[in-house]
Amino acid sequence: MNLVVKKNFNFLKGETEIPSDKSLSHRAVIFSSLAKGKSVIKNFSKGQDPNSSLEICKELGVDIEKDNQTIIVNSDGILKKPSRHLYCGNSGTTMRLMTGVLSGQNFNCVLTGDESLSARPMKRIIEPLSLMGAKISSKDFHAPLNICGSKLTGITYESKIASAQVKSCVLLAGLFADGVTKYKEIYPSRNHTEIMLKNMGANIFEQNGYICIEKSELNPLEMNICGDISSCAYFIVAGLIVPKSKIILKNIGLNPTRSGIIEVVKQMGGDIEILDQREVCGEAVGDIKVEYSPSMKGVEICGEIIPKLIDEIPVIAVLATQCKGQTVIKDAQDLRNKESDRIETTVKELSKLGADIEQTKDGMIINGKTKLNGGVEVESYKDHRLAMSLYVAGLVCEKEILIKDFEWVNISFPEFLELFEKLK
Ligand code: S3P
Repeated sequence: MNLVVKKNFNFLKGETEIPSDKSLSHRAVIFSSLAKGKSVIKNFSKGQDPNSSLEICKELGVDIEKDNQTIIVNSDGILKKPSRHLYCGNSGTTMRLMTGVLSGQNFNCVLTGDESLSARPMKRIIEPLSLMGAKISSKDFHAPLNICGSKLTGITYESKIASAQVKSCVLLAGLFADGVTKYKEIYPSRNHTEIMLKNMGANIFEQNGYICIEKSELNPLEMNICGDISSCAYFIVAGLIVPKSKIILKNIGLNPTRSGIIEVVKQMGGDIEILDQREVCGEAVGDIKVEYSPSMKGVEICGEIIPKLIDEIPVIAVLATQCKGQTVIKDAQDLRNKESDRIETTVKELSKLGADIEQTKDGMIINGKTKLNGGVEVESYKDHRLAMSLYVAGLVCEKEILIKDFEWVNISFPEFLELFEKLK
């Protein structure tokens, strides 16, 4: 489906809840499947990616009932050999987390994915898992992954990349390994796995800068999943750049390992405020108030903050086009390994709209403030986050734009257009 986006002459106003967090939804269904007993998860994501995790857990013999957005997982804590290949769709999180789980089972299976996922690097998980004794064969470290379930042993591992998917994969394998599995990463990535596993009774703890985990039995989970800060990011940026806007985004996950965008917006001088901060199942949650901010300034975004806003970089690039001065994004080379090469695709498509933006090896440089002309067709590269970022840019383009293959937003955020319409 191609979507035409017109300049928003009306400001964005009012308040809305943002749909369920994708990262938490994946983890909730996978970890509940490993627990013995009945788990109840409310506000499970409607996105296709978390649904891939759910369907795979069902293929592994777990009884999962879905009633609207509540899922009830009944498991005896033991996964069964699947009768066919396990299809992860577009979802890197499903493939990487499930590979960690499946490496330590007593059966063999195959994980497959769509074209984009089959092109993404899996060496980053195959290497540490192999050191633990996992037997995974693949062509050039890409999906399909043939997993031969084996006896695993804990390792001490220092990862050179800050990736929550790699970390979670190794920690999940550690749940089935003999001895202690210890993991350290260059910068802290999102820690939802650690928080949720601890809440479910896993023997997981920190020691000398390592996250350590031992073989553990998990208790069932009761959780109401909060709104996704990554989905919220499109509304934050739209609120900041569409003249006269004032919106409140409710029930958003504010885990400090995820909320780098809020720090950056504050540094840029944006009008953003957190209201009613609270805690749900160990995760920080709150409401976010955003107002139109015409005098924002460019900043440098690099180092430790990058994993805290990795999925938000395409829409932060849109924001930077509306900030005065230069925004430099560095240390983000892993963006090239996402659903599309997000450095290349973001720069190429925003340039078509009239942005002053160039790519570097590990990021991009944006000069603002630029009037975006629009009046062109842009590609989404079947990448949900790029499609949504281009939509936000379209709201401030002088002439309408056409975004190709917009339906890919369903990967994480099927409610996207409906919510924007509500605030217009
Ligand atoms: C995710 C981790 C990040 C992120 C992805 C979701 C997760 O990937 O980009 O959308 O839920 O663990 P990496 O671990 O590859 O950085």
